[in-house]
Amino acid sequence: MLDLLLKGARLPGADGLRDLGVRDGRWAEPEPEAAEVVELGGALVTPPLVEPHIHLDAVLTVGEPRYNLTGSLFEGIAIWAERVKDLTAEDVKRRVRQVLRWQLANGVQHVRSHVDVCDPQLTALRALVELRDEVRGQMEMQLVAFPQQGIYSFDGGEELMRKAVQAGADVVGGIPHFEITREYGERSVKFAMALAAEHGLRVDIHCDETDDDHSRFSEVMAAETIRLGLEGRVTASHTTAMHSYNAAYAFRLINNLRRARMHMVTNPLDNSVLQGRFDAYPIRRGHTRVKELLDAGVNVCIGHDSVMDPWYPLGYGDPLQAAMVLAHYGQMSGYEELKTLVRMITVQPALALGLENYGLEVGRPAGLVVFEAPTESDAIRLVPRRRLVLRAGKVVARTEAARTTVVWDGVAEQVDFLKK
Ligand code: FE2
Repeated sequence: MLDLLLKGARLPGADGLRDLGVRDGRWAEPEPEAAEVVELGGALVTPPLVEPHIHLDAVLTVGEPRYNLTGSLFEGIAIWAERVKDLTAEDVKRRVRQVLRWQLANGVQHVRSHVDVCDPQLTALRALVELRDEVRGQMEMQLVAFPQQGIYSFDGGEELMRKAVQAGADVVGGIPHFEITREYGERSVKFAMALAAEHGLRVDIHCDETDDDHSRFSEVMAAETIRLGLEGRVTASHTTAMHSYNAAYAFRLINNLRRARMHMVTNPLDNSVLQGRFDAYPIRRGHTRVKELLDAGVNVCIGHDSVMDPWYPLGYGDPLQAAMVLAHYGQMSGYEELKTLVRMITVQPALALGLENYGLEVGRPAGLVVFEAPTESDAIRLVPRRRLVLRAGKVVARTEAARTTVVWDGVAEQVDFLKK
């Protein structure tokens, strides 16, 4: 007998409805006999959402010590430099515990967080390493050693990166476009990737997050990936400069990214408000070439990046909201493209993070998300709260259905915003 039978699930990209069985916390073939039966009524169901790019150490610091009045990246960096002086382990843990709960409510069960390691004490990283163990039953976290102020442009940067790996970072990061010179940037990529190779870690570098079309460190990442045999283990995040590259260079670069089997993370929430700040009209979108990368067969994922911090005052940790913004900002409103957006917050980041045992196949841990919408298109359109989130076969989040009534010409009617 099953522990749980979920009836009438609509799976991404599939026609018709399916039933899903759970036994001992894992997916099992559906059977009529079950201790509990849940009717899903054709709701969209996906495996757990995967957040491939967030900065948990900075979440919920908006307004501390002051608000970002221009909304620019540079004012954000200046505010963070002030706020970071007051960082304590308890302060970091308190904010992150809250956002992890928001993420779980949104269906996220795997999170990769960048953590600023330009701090001789590594306060945030050490706090998050402890938290990673504390929350293991609820959320799987990967921590990236992220040198916010550079590896060669910050005193003792190399040593701090080595210390961060010793302290328990899972992934090695970088920020080559922020280093003082192009040479420092190239060296920083080579150092980070060698460090990762030496310790058997993955790589996730903030790369070319600028509107400067001369920022060309993604090509260095591709070359080092191939040279070190790190294919499939390397992610380039942001890569907004790609928006401004000439077509011939972009063509060559994208081919080499594919050859290196690199993963790309685009962050539509932050980058839609931060890029193009030095432009007079027309203002560039400053967004990486999502469609061209996907067409070339490169794995592209959607990241959230910030939740209420000095760079981005909005957000509540929902990847679906980021997908909704990318539908507009990346012009991905085509019929198949809306389905692609849902893959970009589920199976595609799962591949980038190297998750094993992910998916709805029989025998895998029974995690899933039930959307309050029947199709991918409706989910992106309505960004509804998640009806149900399961982890290892247990309900870990639930939202009661919203009921909206209009009184039309004196008669009460319910509306659900679905095309009938
Ligand atoms: Fe980022």
